[in-house]
Amino acid sequence: MASLPDARASADGLTFRVAAAADLPQLASWNKQLIEDEGHDNTMSLEDLVARMRTWLATEYQALIFDEPATSADPALPKSQWIPAGACPRMLESGAGMTAAGSASVAYALLRDTPEWVHLRQFFVSRDRRRRGIGARAVALLRDSVIPPDKPVIVEAMAWNHRALSFWRAVGFADRYVGLESRPAASVRRP
Ligand SMILES: CC(C)(COP(=O)(O)OP(=O)(O)OC[C@H]1O[C@@H](n2cnc3c(N)ncnc32)[C@H](O)[C@@H]1OP(=O)(O)O)[C@@H](O)C(=O)NCCC(=O)NCCS
Repeated sequence: MASLPDARASADGLTFRVAAAADLPQLASWNKQLIEDEGHDNTMSLEDLVARMRTWLATEYQALIFDEPATSADPALPKSQWIPAGACPRMLESGAGMTAAGSASVAYALLRDTPEWVHLRQFFVSRDRRRRGIGARAVALLRDSVIPPDKPVIVEAMAWNHRALSFWRAVGFADRYVGLESRPAASVRRP
């Protein structure tokens, strides 16, 4: 992920930070909820999800956590307080103290840089914070502050995850391909 900065920025009060080792339980819990919400057939336990996330973050993926000020009156971080690319310690060594006091972690993105595109593998907004524009603001933040401007972004959604499909189309994504599968009838599970 050399081309993605370990950075924090802000837009409309939403900030992001690179996930630290201390965030692994939260990330795994959100990953579990994401699996449930999108109707995925992944049956991994919380412990397995922690281990998988730890491996991902130590290898090719980067997780960003979005924090929202506790009150809307809190000013957005000025640009002078941004942490410039390269200024943060490596992801798994950086401290959890990067979260501004009084802010709540409300969303995360898991992404991987490739020569052709940035693969946004997981994207999740906390269940109690949805339809408030957090997802759209987080995507704008990624576009403005993380993803190289000349790079396409690829996301995948389950065909029946209409909420996600509506969301991605609303924030500027267009349909690109359709994935198909063939399974033994007994294992087919659809929400
Ligand atoms: C999909 C998800 C990320 C959207 O996050 P969010 O913060 O609620 O989205 P926003 O409030 O920024 O919505 C922006 C726009 O997306 C569309 N949208 C978002 N949620 C929608 C829903 N449930 N139904 C229809 N359209 C929706 C709307 O056009 C919305 O604009 P509007 O509220 O002015 O109508 C969130 O619902 C989520 O985390 N879902 C579970 C995990 C998931 O499916 N992730 C995607 C995996 S591919």
